[in-house]
Amino acid sequence: MEKENKKYYVTTPIYYPSANFHIGHCYTTVIADSIARYKKLLGYDVYFLTGSDEHGLKIQKKALENGVTPQEYVDEIILNAKDLWKSLNINYDKFIRTTDSYHIETVQKIFKKLYDQGDIYKGEYKGLYCTPCESFWTETQLIDGKCPDCGRDVSEVSEEAYFFRLSKYQDRLVEYINSHPDFIQPVSRKNEMMNNFIKPGLEDLCVSRTSFSWGIPVTFDSKHVVYVWIDALSNYISALGYLSEDDSLFKKFWPADLHIVGKEIVRFHTIIWPCLLMALDLPLPKQIFGHGWLIINGGKISKSLGNYRDPREYVKEYGADAIRYYLLREVPFGSDGVFSEELLISRYNTDLANTIGNLLNRTLSMLTKYFNGVIEKTDANTDFDADLIELVTCTNKKANDYMDKLEIPEALDSILSIFRRCNKYIDETTPWILAKEGKNAELKNVLYNILESIRIGAILLSPFLPDTSKEILRQINTKETNYQTTNTFGLLENGISIADYKPIFMRIVKTDEK
Ligand code: MSP
Repeated sequence: MEKENKKYYVTTPIYYPSANFHIGHCYTTVIADSIARYKKLLGYDVYFLTGSDEHGLKIQKKALENGVTPQEYVDEIILNAKDLWKSLNINYDKFIRTTDSYHIETVQKIFKKLYDQGDIYKGEYKGLYCTPCESFWTETQLIDGKCPDCGRDVSEVSEEAYFFRLSKYQDRLVEYINSHPDFIQPVSRKNEMMNNFIKPGLEDLCVSRTSFSWGIPVTFDSKHVVYVWIDALSNYISALGYLSEDDSLFKKFWPADLHIVGKEIVRFHTIIWPCLLMALDLPLPKQIFGHGWLIINGGKISKSLGNYRDPREYVKEYGADAIRYYLLREVPFGSDGVFSEELLISRYNTDLANTIGNLLNRTLSMLTKYFNGVIEKTDANTDFDADLIELVTCTNKKANDYMDKLEIPEALDSILSIFRRCNKYIDETTPWILAKEGKNAELKNVLYNILESIRIGAILLSPFLPDTSKEILRQINTKETNYQTTNTFGLLENGISIADYKPIFMRIVKTDEK
């Protein structure tokens, strides 16, 4: 396969620093990580970016409450995010922080450039202001006409602010979206953006504030800090060195192949971001995929409802791959999905413990019992081999077709079908009867075929369940772990001895309610 031109740049949103990450936050990142790993496996030169969105009034206030500077506050809390991603085996290429100096410089240059070319101008921001909370609100955000945070009266005030000429780019944006059907996915989100936000008309966007200071200062007007979206969205290019001395990564990886975002921020990524890029005369990302939300008991996962645990507790209890598997397999990508520990356990038991774990363990036990753990290929075929081989060798293509459409649960399920087919193959070939009848050549071949299928299945699983894949391949003791081998049956080394082994997933039996 040609390596040339095969680059892939995938991003998650940058997260607000939080000490209270929940399983919903892990969803985007686990998916992006699996896609990045999958593309790497295919031979792409991949860049996977995640990070944190650290400016704004909320952070400024929290820091004040804690008696520390905003920088100290975010420095401390960011360790939490990094620790969470580590626990879930998230293999990002870069973690950007919007407080990093290179990001700050790039944002300042972008702001100045847009101002110099007339795309940013000074105007007046009018809004409803809550003085004790120091927050601006829109009419619709108010609750019974009062501040949604503290319930007090708000007053109409105006402040000097800079605006980005979003309206100027409306026609070009519509034209672009219409001529690039893959740009916003799934299609339902594209229709929503077009009908609800773009067609009614885009208004110029307020991009600076004077009412708080924890933000990136506007270089030519120091009262102002850059407000939210220019700061946050620019991370996707500042991380690659855009407008910096060394922009080689930018040249190589931009435009992004995929921005994965939650449904509530699709709007910013499909309207503000493309217009900013057009103003900067840069190509637009190839795709923005807006995924659904993970919900609990029909509602939002929320700290105040107390309906969630720290994801690291789940990881400790069930293992990183069990959590990854649930997030990747259970929720149709694009739709909302439910998270519950019962569902997690049920998926774990059915797919991981029974279908994969038990298959591997009983095959290795039989091999140990009958042939001292030596894998041997013979010519004594059974009537069931052809069907097994056909399914196993077609799976990489099937999974790849699903991955191209980002149908991740379907891709995973097609890989699982290898393991399900092997279990059926054991029922069909009844190795214990072959052993009893002394049909050693057939028995060796049956065990070889199962282990060869497991080898191929394990390689295909590696982007999704990296630890599991590694452990399966270690137990089989094969060196044939390359993706290119997954459509050819029979490459598992003849005559090798398996390594020490133990069950990779123990069935979970829970009697107590959590
Ligand atoms: N900082 C902004 C993004 C700026 S990107 C230029 C932000 N941060 S966030 O921390 O609030 O959210 C980060 C991601 O987590 C979003 O994609 C959001 O949709 C996702 N999720 C937060 N709760 C979620 C669920 N319950 N389920 C699935 N994803 C969820 O927005």
